[in-house]
Amino acid sequence: MSTLVLKVPAVPERSYEIQVEPGLMERVAPALAADAGEHACYWIWDQAVWGLWRETAMKLGWPVEGSRRHLLFEGTEQKKRLAAIERLATALVERNADRGSALVAVGGGVTGDVVGFLAAIYLRGVPFYQLPTTLLAQVDSSVGGKTGVDLAVGKNLLGCFHQPRAVWIDPNFLTTLPLREFRQGLAEVVKTALLGSEDLWDFLEREADALMAGDVSVRSHMITACCRIKAEVVAADEREAGRRRVLNLGHTVGHALERLSGYALAHGDAVAMGLVAAAEWAVKLGLLERSVALRLIELCRTFGLPTQLPAAASGADIVEALRSDKKYVAGRLHFILPVRIGQVTDRTDLDPAQLRTVLDRLRAA
Ligand SMILES: NC(=O)c1ccc[n+]([C@@H]2O[C@H](COP(=O)([O-])OP(=O)(O)OC[C@H]3O[C@@H](n4cnc5c(N)ncnc54)[C@H](O)[C@@H]3O)[C@@H](O)[C@H]2O)c1
Ligand SMILES: [Zn+2]
Repeated sequence: MSTLVLKVPAVPERSYEIQVEPGLMERVAPALAADAGEHACYWIWDQAVWGLWRETAMKLGWPVEGSRRHLLFEGTEQKKRLAAIERLATALVERNADRGSALVAVGGGVTGDVVGFLAAIYLRGVPFYQLPTTLLAQVDSSVGGKTGVDLAVGKNLLGCFHQPRAVWIDPNFLTTLPLREFRQGLAEVVKTALLGSEDLWDFLEREADALMAGDVSVRSHMITACCRIKAEVVAADEREAGRRRVLNLGHTVGHALERLSGYALAHGDAVAMGLVAAAEWAVKLGLLERSVALRLIELCRTFGLPTQLPAAASGADIVEALRSDKKYVAGRLHFILPVRIGQVTDRTDLDPAQLRTVLDRLRAA
């Protein structure tokens, strides 16, 4: 088993464990009992995940239908809204959840974000635990304490920081995850390796086939490495004042592409394209060796991730779409560029017009 301890510096006593181990779910109930003590734990599941894992949950003695401690919600991006928070909060009140209660989130990133936000504001804050079940949630969203919901006018516009009490990651949950969703998580893995670890990058190149074939020890190693890198970044900058911005690698162009597609483009696919765009711009600026950009394209292809931009999105459209993004700070575009595998630079002095030509060259014919 790998155990990482994430210490959030602003409040030193608030550190928590991130555990990664195949089969960990078997130890979650006792671990929860030991950690939560007197807290009554309310388990909130993505109902689709519940449908797939109900039998296992029963065997493990977790709360099931009919129990006050078992709640379901539709863990989709469309339902990641205040309405879900209100409905779940009402259900918690009806079940007598009080200030001594804790929440357990079982599902992907949507579930973690919604349950985390609910935990942050329910009775002005109760503890919560994360049991992430998608690759994206296991390598990215469950670590770092960002929680929130969407508005009709944009994603993740309401939210707050609320760190979980623990993150328990069982890669066995991925056995039921569709390949399309698995790939979305892989885009974040590639991003994480590119920004933070040459070792992880080499491992991905070496073990790509085993990873795609479902080798659980390879997957565990990869998840642990990603959590370690994210935890290091978050520990240095919980509230995204500086260092945490490196996590935006590939996301500046990625978010613009998602928005331009009306969110028809999947997030991970958009991030993969955004990573390639960032690498190509870095090559053009003489900051990155071309061979690295080629390795990135190759790795994305191995993982089934797109490396060309949609023909419909022109460089001019994308650069225009960047303007309404959070990455513009005081009128300046913040852009994270790779400088070698495992290292990035945060630039605010770049000319978006140059990016336009880079993007146009990356469009599919
Ligand atoms: N808080 C953060 O720091 C952070 C970081 C990145 C992304 N996010 C958020 O995470 C969300 C995306 O997360 P996601 O990709 O996990 O999406 P998701 O939670 O919507 O899950 C994707 C799909 O997989 C299904 N699913 C989940 N686990 C499964 C399993 N084990 N087997 C089969 N199906 C399963 C879900 O029902 C859903 O249909 C977005 O809302 C994004 O804003 C948050
Ligand atoms: Zn992302």
